[in-house]
Amino acid sequence: MADELDNAGIAKAYARWAPIYDVVFGAVFDRGRKASIAAAERIGGRILEVGVGTGLSLPDYSWSNRLIGVDLSAPMLRKAKARVAERGLSNVDGLAVMDAQRLGFADAAFDVVVAQYVITTVPDPEATLDEFARVIKPGGEIILVNHLGAESGLRAMLERAFAPLARWLGWQVEFGWERLAQWAARHGGVHVVERRPMPPLGHFSLIRFAKA
Ligand SMILES: C[S@@+](CC[C@H](N)C(=O)[O-])C[C@H]1O[C@@H](n2cnc3c(N)ncnc32)[C@H](O)[C@@H]1O
Repeated sequence: MADELDNAGIAKAYARWAPIYDVVFGAVFDRGRKASIAAAERIGGRILEVGVGTGLSLPDYSWSNRLIGVDLSAPMLRKAKARVAERGLSNVDGLAVMDAQRLGFADAAFDVVVAQYVITTVPDPEATLDEFARVIKPGGEIILVNHLGAESGLRAMLERAFAPLARWLGWQVEFGWERLAQWAARHGGVHVVERRPMPPLGHFSLIRFAKA
């Protein structure tokens, strides 16, 4: 899977995951989803969720925010659309198939971009982060929750056990914190606000970048 980390490979993988995604990954990633929503709602307003998947997070946003969700996978999005209809989520203004690396939105169109368990699935994470920074307003935030690979120690050893599942999800398992920090430093227009360990077992992190 890691070898075929391109959009076509990812779309194929998530077409297979779509029917069972919620059962397998609903609960296990829930704390991270909720923490990223709480962080997003501290700013509130127009929120773009990138890689929204089956829309598991959508019912947890407050009704006062306006949401747009995008994802590369049409089968995942179909599930999200069904959820929005079933739950009557009138704060969701749209769900669209879109590549995170080329967002079809104007500059400064959103207050917050949220990406839960997505940044290591895209072939070019830095180009994706550039897009996130472009579409948020000054004072807005990019909020990621993701697995970040440990460089050494016990956690790095444990992560080797997790690697097959991560690859199955199309994640780049070697993707570490340094890469995000370097992107922010190079970009210059954003800075790191927070980096917080998240369950399960602190193997995941919540990361917030603010736009100057
Ligand atoms: C691990 S799932 C996470 C889904 C959801 N955010 C969650 O919390 O369960 C990764 C999602 O990112 C989407 N994705 C992967 N590459 C993408 C890209 N280049 N552009 C948009 N979405 C992408 C996949 O289709 C999938 O729905």
